Amino acid sequence: MKTIFSGVQPTGTVTLGNYIGAFRQFTELQHEYNCHFCIVDQHAITMRQDPKELQKTIRALAALYVASGIDPEKAVLFIQSEVPAHAQAGWLMQSISYIGELERMTQFKDKSDGQEGVSSALLTYPPLMAADIVLYNTDIVPVGDDQTQHMELTRTLAERFNSRYGKTLKIPEIRVPKTGARIKSLQEPTRKMSKSDPNKKATISLLDTPKEIEKKLKSAVTDSEGIVLFDETNKPGVSNLLAIESAMSGATIDEVVQKYDGLKYGDFKAGVAEAVISHLSPIQENYYNLIESAKLDTILDEGAQKANIVASATLKRMENAMGLGRKR
Ligand code: TYM
Repeated sequence: MKTIFSGVQPTGTVTLGNYIGAFRQFTELQHEYNCHFCIVDQHAITMRQDPKELQKTIRALAALYVASGIDPEKAVLFIQSEVPAHAQAGWLMQSISYIGELERMTQFKDKSDGQEGVSSALLTYPPLMAADIVLYNTDIVPVGDDQTQHMELTRTLAERFNSRYGKTLKIPEIRVPKTGARIKSLQEPTRKMSKSDPNKKATISLLDTPKEIEKKLKSAVTDSEGIVLFDETNKPGVSNLLAIESAMSGATIDEVVQKYDGLKYGDFKAGVAEAVISHLSPIQENYYNLIESAKLDTILDEGAQKANIVASATLKRMENAMGLGRKR
């Protein structure tokens, strides 16, 4: 059975973009693959976080994984900082990363641009991500397409490790969904929907109420043509809403276009809102049942235990290959 690894940062509330690009793939794939899903809290601290808030967000993210359908009997769900091999292997991967290649990462450039006191961990974030992945002998990494550059670097680093120290690491493949690999902002539909967007109207969170969802979709930027068609270049706003409804309802883009043939944008937006609300409401119900439950802690404890076994074995192989410590 092939192995999958993916991670989500516990920063802010999970958006519909995260859900469509990542979570939706996870729940489908867990039936066919040996899956590991991670709450990457050590990645979150590459930007300054409030400790109390971070604790809450970690738990909320864990609950959302389970609420959206991750079955802890099928997939291993855990918190990155509870598996020490991540930070340890991250250091090893840093030792084979070049400063120049890290500085070229667009995420680093975007997040450090114009900022004072940029953390060095923001620069060395990709080798930690590479470590996350290789520790589980991962074949496939399901992510949204904003992670493509990090995945290419992960492959480069794993190949570099193998060529320097002998074949130790598996080279992983990226998997992005056919539709919804990059859900756009509702207010600026040429940019991706992002948790950190200060304009709250631009983003739908998985925990938004039906009223908030309706309101945000009603004010979503479209165009003045009044025709519902999928054309990402000329009609980015409408195309984004079509991708959202298609992901939520399971209908193809063509089927969604057909559904709104001859209808006005007002009806279209109301229909998209209905699809989002009916998809999210059972997830929200599960979330509120889980968030305070002891069951969530049991899932995370068991996940960390299972993850530790695999990750520490790979770490040992990496250290041995590099000649660190005494051979064990
Ligand atoms: P993060 O936390 O920013 O995002 C989590 C997942 O959501 C996807 N995503 C989107 N997909 C579609 N449309 C969008 N607008 C959108 N916004 C975000 C992301 O592509 C991602 O799949 N570096 C990663 C976390 C990470 C990781 C890993 C991922 C750390 N280690 C190892 C995979 C494997 C990140 O910051 O994701």
